[in-house]
Amino acid sequence: MALLKKRNQGDELQLNEIEYEWAQELLDQAIANTWFPHEAPMAEDIQDWMGMSEEEKNAVIMYIGFSNPMEYDVNESITYGMLNHIAAPEVKMYLVRQMWEEVNHALAFDYVINTLEIDRKKAFNTHIDVPEVRVKEEFLMSSIEKMIEGIDVETEEGKKDFVRNIVKTNIVTEGVWFYSGFMFALNFRQRKLLRNFATITDWISRDEALHLKVGINMILTVLEENPDIVTNDFADEIRNIIVEAVELEMNYNKALLPKGILGLNTNFINQYVQYVADRRLEELGFEPEFKVSNPAKWMSTANDTFQLVNFFEAVNTSYEVNAGGIKSQKKAK
Ligand SMILES: [Fe+2]
Ligand SMILES: [Fe+2]
Repeated sequence: MALLKKRNQGDELQLNEIEYEWAQELLDQAIANTWFPHEAPMAEDIQDWMGMSEEEKNAVIMYIGFSNPMEYDVNESITYGMLNHIAAPEVKMYLVRQMWEEVNHALAFDYVINTLEIDRKKAFNTHIDVPEVRVKEEFLMSSIEKMIEGIDVETEEGKKDFVRNIVKTNIVTEGVWFYSGFMFALNFRQRKLLRNFATITDWISRDEALHLKVGINMILTVLEENPDIVTNDFADEIRNIIVEAVELEMNYNKALLPKGILGLNTNFINQYVQYVADRRLEELGFEPEFKVSNPAKWMSTANDTFQLVNFFEAVNTSYEVNAGGIKSQKKAK
């Protein structure tokens, strides 16, 4: 079986043989990570919020106003761009679990909005009113709209579209933009502010690290199984998508922190974005683009160091360890 395969009438869907062990392992981890927003009581955060400056509050509102709709957008991407083209039940189960997590994240932002008595209209209109936010959403939506129109994954172009959509969803949105947002949100905890909001952010980031991993695994599996799409031009295209997304994020951060706040300014956060984007490039087997150090050493590095793989060449050791299904498939040939 191949990852990119439409389910045909009469196909058996059962788990007696798991082909993609990485999906089963990620599903187990995801279930072990289950949490609910109200488990972080926010009384202290309300006190903090009342003492924060207008610029700090506006930045938090903009961050939430970007993140909340993106949770729904990711689910659209999974619905139209992934579930429809994959038959392996273990991968489908993971993706459905991920969809619940995205809903939980949206509810978590809603919980924060209600608790801090944030102007809902202002927060929810952010992705329409603020051009730097809108352009990021449009970057992802252009790909999702293509998925809604429909792609044929039996063609070379359809396979590439499937990969492009995962790059924009899991690598860019979840693996770069959201990490930039986590660093912004967690920075308040560094100043002993919004500590329960930070706990919620920790939980969201733990989920997103898995969404990033499943994205990398899906991309590498499709490339491995479809060597016809593995070309230098396509590699350049993937790399350029990630580099372009960094530009969008750097402009967004200028709007997020026009004057800078205590402990954080645009240059600092943009260096972190470049650092994280380089890790994502390396995880896909590319050379880093920006070659900067991590300015926020206090951020967990646990998610930034997982196995390196070689995007367009031979399968390396860590890939084999991670993707047992492909290894066994190769042996079976
Ligand atoms: Fe999410
Ligand atoms: Fe996610």
